[in-house]
Amino acid sequence: MSRLVVVSNRVAIPGDTRPGGLAVGLLAALKERGGLWFGWSGKATRDASGTLHEQVEGDIRYVTMDLDKHDVDGYYNGFANRTLWPLLHFRLDLVDYDRGTRETYHRVNELFASKLAPLLREDDIVWIHDYHLIPLAAMLRERGIGCRIGFFLHVPMPSADLLQAMPDHLRLFSSLYACDLVGFQTQRDADRFQTYLRLFGGGRVLGDGQLEAPDGRRFRAAAFPIGIDTERIAQQAKAAVGKTAVKDLRGSLRDRQLAIGVDRLDYSKGLPERFLGFERYLERHPDQHGSLTYLQIAPVSRGDVTEYRQLRSQLEQIAGHINGGHAGPDWTPLRYVNQNFTHATLTGFYRSAAVGLVTPLRDGMNLVAKEYVASQDPDNPGVLVLSLLAGAADELKQALLVNPHDLDGVADAIATAATMPLKRRQERWNAMMEHLRRHDINHWRQSFLQELEA
Ligand code: G6P
Repeated sequence: MSRLVVVSNRVAIPGDTRPGGLAVGLLAALKERGGLWFGWSGKATRDASGTLHEQVEGDIRYVTMDLDKHDVDGYYNGFANRTLWPLLHFRLDLVDYDRGTRETYHRVNELFASKLAPLLREDDIVWIHDYHLIPLAAMLRERGIGCRIGFFLHVPMPSADLLQAMPDHLRLFSSLYACDLVGFQTQRDADRFQTYLRLFGGGRVLGDGQLEAPDGRRFRAAAFPIGIDTERIAQQAKAAVGKTAVKDLRGSLRDRQLAIGVDRLDYSKGLPERFLGFERYLERHPDQHGSLTYLQIAPVSRGDVTEYRQLRSQLEQIAGHINGGHAGPDWTPLRYVNQNFTHATLTGFYRSAAVGLVTPLRDGMNLVAKEYVASQDPDNPGVLVLSLLAGAADELKQALLVNPHDLDGVADAIATAATMPLKRRQERWNAMMEHLRRHDINHWRQSFLQELEA
């Protein structure tokens, strides 16, 4: 088996107390084959960019690279998170076009390539992750790297018409031609990429995911919907109900039902709309008044980016408005919390919630939806209210699917979820759980790597 080299903006280095699902899945692959994980150190230093740090744990070598403040601003806060992130989430209204940050993004990708290339061996298999590193494969090829290279986009791939709105889009997206395999979350994402290639990229679609770049180079683009570590999460959730934080939460509800949302504080997650949908629920379903408390956990994310700071104040305002209008002396309908919790604690919270609210305006997949389902008690499962606009909706068809822009629809789905009879809840949950067991995180990375090596 070839050595696996994972490249991503963030690296889950050992000792990280909250490795996410992705980290767990990739670590399993790295352990199995031995490997290297390369990425940004997460720090903005004062020194020049490019200093490497190395750590070895068993068969895995972690190499991270520092970036100076100017590079972090242009590459991460700037082009990745103020241009690409909104563009890829269909938000042209929020996209900031700036030549300066774009050039920094390309230069930082060059820096990744120049530091990574000398560490690579001929028979390595390289797996690059996400929108921060789109041009990297092409830059590695320019340095003579001939090994297998795969790329996986964790976020949505919008239509060619949206991509066209970004100046210099072809320079960026045509760099993916250097890969052997480009993976997307859903078939629709893969299809949109093919259409883009055909319309603007001068490429040919040969069928069955086979694509041909203008220079005749062939590669594949296909869907590999990411999964979770289903069994581990189910066990974790069962054990987590003994944790103090989970017991405290349960005790504080005083027999009321719980609805839960857990999202990074990000405009793609549809939090203002969700809050307003909850308010609509309180208004439209007075019979349920006082019987359900909604806990929204939203750890602050990308706080150096203006749009994220604005969202934070907007949510504070809406949350205050809802509670001001609907709370009683002994009941607060909406608990809005920016604090972060360990992954294990969150699974205990999910298991305590009769309703899971996952209503992004756009999402590549959304793993919270899957984790909420996997965390449920089989004897008394909760109900997932899921946005049609999340990749997860293509798989979790037994959730209550809603359009997150339709506040009445969200309101009624909350009411339906909160009162659904046990038998129907179990039927829906069993069907989703079976899917999650078969398509877990190991299935995801094995199918991607098998195809990349084929
Ligand atoms: C999304 C992206 C990831 C990113 C994560 C957290 O899930 O697809 O690449 O790591 O958000 O965002 P952050 O900016 O904190 O890395």
